Amino acid sequence: MNEKPTFPTQGLESAEFDPTNHSTNRTMGEVIAARFSRRGFLQGSLAVSAIAATVGPAALLSALRAEAQEGGSAFSFPEVTAGVDADHHVAEGYDVKVLMRWGDPVTNDAPEFDPNNQTAEAQAGQFGYNNDYVGYIPLDGSDEHGLLVVNHEYTNPHLMFPGLVQIVDGELEQGDLSEEQVNIEIAAHGGSIIEIEKVDGEWRRVADSKYNRRITGTTETLITGPAAGHDRLKTSADETGTKAQGTLNNCAGGVTPWGTYLMAEENFHGYFSGELPADHAESENYARLGAPGGWYQWHNFHDRFDVSKEPNEMNRFGYIVEVDPMDPTSVPKKRTAMGRFKHEGAESIVAPNGQVVLYSGDDERFDYVYKFVTAGTYDADDRAANMDLLDEGTLYVARFDEDGSMEWMPLVHGEGPLTAENGFASQADIVIETRRAADLLGATKMDRPEDIQPNATNGKVYVMLTNNSRRTEEDVNVANPRPDNVFGHIIEIAEADGDFAATSGTWEILLKCGDPSIAEVGATFTTDTTENGWFGMPDNAAVDSDGRLWVSTDGNNPTDTGRADGLWAVDTEGAARGTSRLFYRVPVGAEMCGPVFTENGESLFLAIQHPGDGGEDWDGHGRPSYYEDPATRWPDFQDDMPVRPAVVVVTKQGGGKIAV
Ligand code: FEO
Ligand code: CA
Ligand code: CA
Ligand code: CA
Repeated sequence: MNEKPTFPTQGLESAEFDPTNHSTNRTMGEVIAARFSRRGFLQGSLAVSAIAATVGPAALLSALRAEAQEGGSAFSFPEVTAGVDADHHVAEGYDVKVLMRWGDPVTNDAPEFDPNNQTAEAQAGQFGYNNDYVGYIPLDGSDEHGLLVVNHEYTNPHLMFPGLVQIVDGELEQGDLSEEQVNIEIAAHGGSIIEIEKVDGEWRRVADSKYNRRITGTTETLITGPAAGHDRLKTSADETGTKAQGTLNNCAGGVTPWGTYLMAEENFHGYFSGELPADHAESENYARLGAPGGWYQWHNFHDRFDVSKEPNEMNRFGYIVEVDPMDPTSVPKKRTAMGRFKHEGAESIVAPNGQVVLYSGDDERFDYVYKFVTAGTYDADDRAANMDLLDEGTLYVARFDEDGSMEWMPLVHGEGPLTAENGFASQADIVIETRRAADLLGATKMDRPEDIQPNATNGKVYVMLTNNSRRTEEDVNVANPRPDNVFGHIIEIAEADGDFAATSGTWEILLKCGDPSIAEVGATFTTDTTENGWFGMPDNAAVDSDGRLWVSTDGNNPTDTGRADGLWAVDTEGAARGTSRLFYRVPVGAEMCGPVFTENGESLFLAIQHPGDGGEDWDGHGRPSYYEDPATRWPDFQDDMPVRPAVVVVTKQGGGKIAV
């Protein structure tokens, strides 16, 4: 999601446009000097020892081979031309096919999509709206048969429902949603689990699979970990504080080494409206989250979304949710040990000693970078033994220091300022109010942390910082050095001794994004990067099985960058480091989500989120975009079909690994 729905129902300006982090951490005025001069050192012996310690000789060899290419890019494909139009585009020599669209049947009994007669019941079995995270979980280790797991982050009612919008003075005016429409929205959230297979070279959904499943905004979930059963999580519908109804705003996510699916609850505050009673105990908690957001009309029909009626309901959202896709009857679990904030995602990796490390950004201007390290260790031979690993461990928040080092500071009750004196009676309070705890530790205020992707091949971790137009000259810091950072940047972390579980490390900025031909932008793409190859607003990232980094974006448009969002291949090794090339671009209005490759590198799944949202600034449309008059009718291009978010799959013509 690009910070907020483009066309919210109400009350957006007050909450979301003000940064909610009012703590005073590290808003030092002087900056960066000499950051880049350390690059040579960081790419030298330290990087190599990190690789060796983490991944062993085979990966080391492949990484060193890449280094040895001496300036050659690790990628080979003809670059797509940057631009914006109604369709999507992939590099020449590749096929892109639509695999699942909003409304396509997911469950075995779901009806075909009928946009003029949509119901909540139908939607609860069909592919949800605004696909974001995409994961591929192989069945029997296959690269051609597995489970596709997809998050459905949010809904765009103006593009979903006929007859809802009027144009008044050239602007969209959205009417009131009916109860059924609200319930369709709730059912269009959550996630999809779909068995897929490649038959005669084409991927398709397996009908009548026992795995095919929808999770929605009403699916029962279990709350586990330190906050489970806490008074602050009890509501009139659940006096135990252990069973939440549904999961919401599932942005990016992850797949664990034991094959469970992680859904990250991001802008959960947006679904809540109303006002807390004066001096309510949760006031400070809510204020720090910019809550309630008032983005939707759900409170008109469901009291739980009205904070004046159910003040604790919102404390049951904002978590990482773990789902076992292999068991269709499994209850999704909200893992509170991993903290409560606007989780972008939860990508994981196994540390040398077997502990599992999960990285998660808190996507808000001036918020933080986190990681969670499990107390237990991963057992590759006993899947069942891993199923509750995420309930015990240590949550850390990052502080980036000026000398290029960094520290992961533990959010542990009783340590430092995290005591009853500061309002934290137990670890439950710390995980419920993670942001406030992190403020007290002096974490570094970042430029909207999105996906954080560990790379097993080179031992590094890549942090997407999408943008922060609110950062001023006065509050730049060494890890977020650009005031008015509208194009974002990417930080590369090397954990100490190549150990992802380490509590310290080093870091540098891999890329400052934006158009490198405009000096004032200060972008740092190499000169080998073509006019198509640069991008702004990094959001999601993927690392393929060769350890190559791919970055997808959210917010490129005709006005800011003269290009649609897309997927860029970014070199990280050798002299080509910092070179970027455009592989795929989305249709007008969309953002690019969910890049994930199969292990053999031959199939690439991509999520096209909110296509057709906006259109005023694209001269191919030049006016508001809504159900009856969308900027594009991708992917069907039929007059009787609305524009539909969809997951697509890219393969190489004639077969083989992508981009080699
Ligand atoms: Fe849902 Fe941070 O993007
Ligand atoms: Ca985003
Ligand atoms: Ca995102
Ligand atoms: Ca990712």
